[in-house]
Amino acid sequence: MGTGMGMDMGKDAGMGRGTEMGLDRSIWARGLTRTFADMTAVDGVDLTIDSGRIFGFLGPNGSGKTTMVRMLTTILKPSAGSARVAGFDVSEQQGEVRERVGVALQEVGLDGLMTAREMLVLQARLFRADREQARATAERLLATVGLDNVDPKKRVGQFSGGMRRRLDLALALVNDPLVLFLDEPTTGLDPVSRSAIWDEVRRLNREKGMTIFLTTQYLEEADKLADEVAIIDRGRIVAQGAPEALKRGIGNEVVKFTFASPDAAARAGDVLSRQAPDRRLDGPSLLCYFTTAAGRLPELIRTLDEAGLALEGLTVSEPTLDDVFLQATGHRLSPKQAAGNGANGAAAEVGDAAGVAGAGDSADAAAEASGRRTSKRGRRR
Ligand SMILES: Nc1ncnc2c1ncn2[C@@H]1O[C@H](COP(=O)(O)OP(=O)(O)OP(=O)(O)O)[C@@H](O)[C@H]1O
Ligand SMILES: [Mg+2]
Repeated sequence: MGTGMGMDMGKDAGMGRGTEMGLDRSIWARGLTRTFADMTAVDGVDLTIDSGRIFGFLGPNGSGKTTMVRMLTTILKPSAGSARVAGFDVSEQQGEVRERVGVALQEVGLDGLMTAREMLVLQARLFRADREQARATAERLLATVGLDNVDPKKRVGQFSGGMRRRLDLALALVNDPLVLFLDEPTTGLDPVSRSAIWDEVRRLNREKGMTIFLTTQYLEEADKLADEVAIIDRGRIVAQGAPEALKRGIGNEVVKFTFASPDAAARAGDVLSRQAPDRRLDGPSLLCYFTTAAGRLPELIRTLDEAGLALEGLTVSEPTLDDVFLQATGHRLSPKQAAGNGANGAAAEVGDAAGVAGAGDSADAAAEASGRRTSKRGRRR
């Protein structure tokens, strides 16, 4: 990286620190727990993430993803357990950790009246850059995230959602972090903006060796982007591993029989109990897992037919991470998402996320959001 970090971060900082070999960029947690009043948001999480990985933290609304990110970035104190990021303890060595991490939180607390450049310069100054260095850093990062062609006078308040996410990413990169935390970096973005962020994440990981911890509600995002994923549900990790391995663990193929009603699906489950020992009900559908499905289909259909169970639909597909989620938790990550329809998955998820957010406890959500914003300002002060 020719231009490198222009700013002096202190004794060990400077050009290309992020590309030096042998630097500890790992994330490690044992029994990490956070309770709020009587609810446990994160419940005894163990994680070991090697330097230079892209790690996807996948879970539904309220499962503890943001709480986890806030603890790992020292914004929030753990109630129990311990964690080390880039080799430093998040409770005992907060300053060391903060110098080495970048974080883009979910609730973007951007000041609408400032321009992107002004915000980046300010952020760089907070990390002890002088005026010249801060200006150079701002220019470089605007180019990095593709905001260098935006009208320099445009205020952040007039930015689109995608532009804000890019700016938030740029702000998280100001201190040339070893470990980058992105909390739902693409939620609500259109597919084009989403894939632009994915490309940027891959590039940062590849060129700078940055470890990237990203949370997401999108199966496709975790699947495509992450070397390794953990699925979190109600504060606990229910499955962890490389996406391919997790999907393989499910069985190689899923046959989905759909009937007129959940009752009919349940009866089909009974009827097929011997022929399809590994199966699961999902509303009006019955999912059967096989190493190879094609050869089994005729006899399965015959059995259903003999039992008088009329099929409304039949698909055969490779397992998705949603199937992994279903098997680990007994429910789906996104209720409307049918098994194995990875192609439609992303579109369905966007709608679901909005629906769930709208249905949530809004007072709680508002309090939570303002808490996040305060914390974020605190960090950037
Ligand atoms: N400051 C807080 N005070 C009280 N409860 C909180 C606070 N922050 C989080 N919680 C609760 O902890 C649980 C986990 O919240 P968290 O924000 O970590 O979930 P999440 O996985 O990030 O969800 P989302 O996908 O909606 O962002 C939720 O039930 C939430 O209401
Ligand atoms: Mg969150």
